[in-house]
Amino acid sequence: MASVTSLSHSVAQHLASALSATLPEAAGADPLLRRSDRADFQANGILALAKKAKANPRELATQVVSRVESGGLIKDVEVSGPGFLNITLTDRAIVENLAERYADGERLGVPLAEHPGTTVIDYAQPNVAKEMHVGHLRSAVIGDAVVQILEFTGESVVRRHHIGDWGTQFGMLIQYLIEHPHELDHKGGEVSGEEAMSNLNRLYKAARSLFDSDEEFKTRARRRVVDLQAGEPETLAMWQKFVDESKIYFYSVFDKLDMEIRDPDVVGESGYNDMLDETCRLLEESGVAVRSDGALCVFFDDVKGPDGNPVPLIVKKSDGGYGYAATDLSAIRDRVFNLKADSLIYVVDARQSLHFKMVFETARRAGWLNDDVKAHQLAFGTVLGKDGKPFKTREGETVRLVDLLDEAIDRATSVVREKAEKVGLSEREIEENGRYVGIGAVKYADLSTSAVRDYKFDLDQMVSLNGDTSVYLQYAYARIRSIFGKAGDRTPLAHPELELAPAERALGLHLDRFGETLDEVAAEYAPHKLAAYLYQLASLYTTFYDQCPVIKPAPAQEVAENRLFLCDLTGRTLHQGMTLLGIRTPERL
Ligand code: ARG
Repeated sequence: MASVTSLSHSVAQHLASALSATLPEAAGADPLLRRSDRADFQANGILALAKKAKANPRELATQVVSRVESGGLIKDVEVSGPGFLNITLTDRAIVENLAERYADGERLGVPLAEHPGTTVIDYAQPNVAKEMHVGHLRSAVIGDAVVQILEFTGESVVRRHHIGDWGTQFGMLIQYLIEHPHELDHKGGEVSGEEAMSNLNRLYKAARSLFDSDEEFKTRARRRVVDLQAGEPETLAMWQKFVDESKIYFYSVFDKLDMEIRDPDVVGESGYNDMLDETCRLLEESGVAVRSDGALCVFFDDVKGPDGNPVPLIVKKSDGGYGYAATDLSAIRDRVFNLKADSLIYVVDARQSLHFKMVFETARRAGWLNDDVKAHQLAFGTVLGKDGKPFKTREGETVRLVDLLDEAIDRATSVVREKAEKVGLSEREIEENGRYVGIGAVKYADLSTSAVRDYKFDLDQMVSLNGDTSVYLQYAYARIRSIFGKAGDRTPLAHPELELAPAERALGLHLDRFGETLDEVAAEYAPHKLAAYLYQLASLYTTFYDQCPVIKPAPAQEVAENRLFLCDLTGRTLHQGMTLLGIRTPERL
């Protein structure tokens, strides 16, 4: 593995040394380099430095320019405006840098983080005996992308699927199952995810209606909650049946989402049961939590209800029961002290932000979180229907995630089918591509807007071939791959001696920014910036492809080889970036 210094980093280094040679007190200052339309880069840092040194910015800039060493990298640097620097690179430097990336396999020259740590990420956390909905989709899709991105930077990532598998609602379900013991039996062997969910739904409805209509059943169901909490074996065994049945369903959905969820990483709420007592004891002894009306509570100056009274985080209820907060606080202790995390990420709906704010603050007061161990809620917004209101069926019910995914796959399959004949795809390939395009479309729509924003679930837009969609990126990739079928005996080869056309430069400079983009994406947990990078890459490639013939009309041998090299590197970068987002790139589409 050979990591490659990005061009902008090298340029910044050249500028920094010229700067400190001109103005010794500016040593270590950031020249503030960015991509520019006028030249390859513009540096804006001199303005602030001149102000500080009480110097004329244009004069300072002119002196810096005279000290910039080209080093084969910088072709031209000139002062512009009030004291900006416009910098143009040599074509040779661009191609040579890309050639180094090309030689570095899948990593494409992207270095590993210097000081990787351990991140525990809480995502893809549906609830037992309940249907999955679009909120669970967002957590899974965003979480999975963040896992892949962090692992690519060298971070150790521990995944935690904090499924909702505990609570008083199980009393009713378990009691019902005890009284109707064959309801979850699997007669013909294995059941599908769909069947498992429909079994659970049927059971849930039946238990609910009995609970609402039969006082004696209600009493038995309540007593069952006590048995469950006491760990009574028969009760636990029944509870386990619900968990197992639900997992069959969850895994089938994750599988449809083309996402790997591993069983040991599924540690639901119940996984922290034997820590709850101690968590409360620690909080009470340290004075972080106090008794209030019989409940154990944590108060915050800035959290008040509409009546102006403080709203506490309730760690233990007055009846002795534990809730969501006690579990999350125990999970923090587990993640920090047992799993040795230094970052905790929670990919959870923004509507739970107050809960996490209180939980994190409590953990800080208790000393479990601090400047070295931080927690962050990667909060996501709501999925809206085309009408801009929270996504519901016509009957006002929550939309089943599976139905959405199936519809996306159907639509995508017809899009693929329309072009299939021209490409010569078999029926098997059409179906496979339909899944990759449909699931990719759903994931990309989710990942291409910043997580915290709401977005509209609009399948027509998602599978559109034009615009900022995954299909557009997948077609760009497939088009690149198809070129290699037509290239004959010409093979990709970098030719640093050639002069580059403007579209080649623009593409090349963008390709070089892959690693820097990933740095930013990983530091901010912002997969949408990777999506934006890839979309721009595909757009720059399209311009390049229009302006710079690769096959027909046939350019000179070296030009063709160099262009094929740019095509191949673009394809590999697209593929790697899409893979990090959890999206497939079919070779033929
Ligand atoms: N199961 C919860 C839900 O469906 C999400 C769990 C989030 N994670 C956590 N540690 N509280 O809303």
